[in-house]
Amino acid sequence: MNIVRAKDYEDLSRKAANIISAQVILKPDCVLGLATGSTPIGTYQQLVERYKKGDLDFAGVTTVNLDEYRGLPRENDQSYYYFMHDNLFSHVNIPEGRSFLPDGTEPDSEKACTDYERIIREVGGVDLQLLGLGHNGHIGFNEPGPVFEADTHCVRLTEQTIKANQRFFASIDDVPKEAYTMGIKTIMHARKILLVVSGEDKAEAVKNSFFGPITPQVQASILQLHKDVTVVADEAALSLINA
Ligand code: GLP
Repeated sequence: MNIVRAKDYEDLSRKAANIISAQVILKPDCVLGLATGSTPIGTYQQLVERYKKGDLDFAGVTTVNLDEYRGLPRENDQSYYYFMHDNLFSHVNIPEGRSFLPDGTEPDSEKACTDYERIIREVGGVDLQLLGLGHNGHIGFNEPGPVFEADTHCVRLTEQTIKANQRFFASIDDVPKEAYTMGIKTIMHARKILLVVSGEDKAEAVKNSFFGPITPQVQASILQLHKDVTVVADEAALSLINA
């Protein structure tokens, strides 16, 4: 595991965008696995700037997102579909129809999940998967539990995650309680992984995920077994470890 220390959020966003840019330049027809949450927003802004300057071309790129709330219509501004369009897709030239997310509007969860696994297979797997980190060490929406769930599945969000996401909704009752998420095997199959993490409130999660035992109680800890992981973290997120 390669831990890249960033001065602050701005520096983190630039460094993460550098790594994604390198991927797109070296393999213009790559598959990018993308993430939502507040942490990657700065990275997406950097990518948009580089595209606008003419330094990056997404014409050959395909994207697959990690997760989506179950039951939120796409036009709801808290759906991950909306988020991705707002923060990235509508500002760059990824071809129409080449950006995929789990279908949160599909009520049949088994169908939503098997369809998504098929899509990931059909696009040839993920070259570079971007990840954020939840306070309890979750990646995508793989919450702490007794096992690592392998494939895309439907999850019931933990109280902690629902509370963390409450800030985006009018009230806690409006926060969706379920989501579709890539599983741990799906994530671990990505050829490269880039995890971004910022802030002192994530320091404990960083310590538990990358310097503690590998356990499904801290889902990100499995990344210790992946052969090509880069963690870009700011000073605050690294404050409990000596990287
Ligand atoms: C949500 C997303 C995760 C994300 C996490 C952390 O739960 N499903 O993919 O990593 O939030 O978000 P943030 O970056 O806002 O702390």
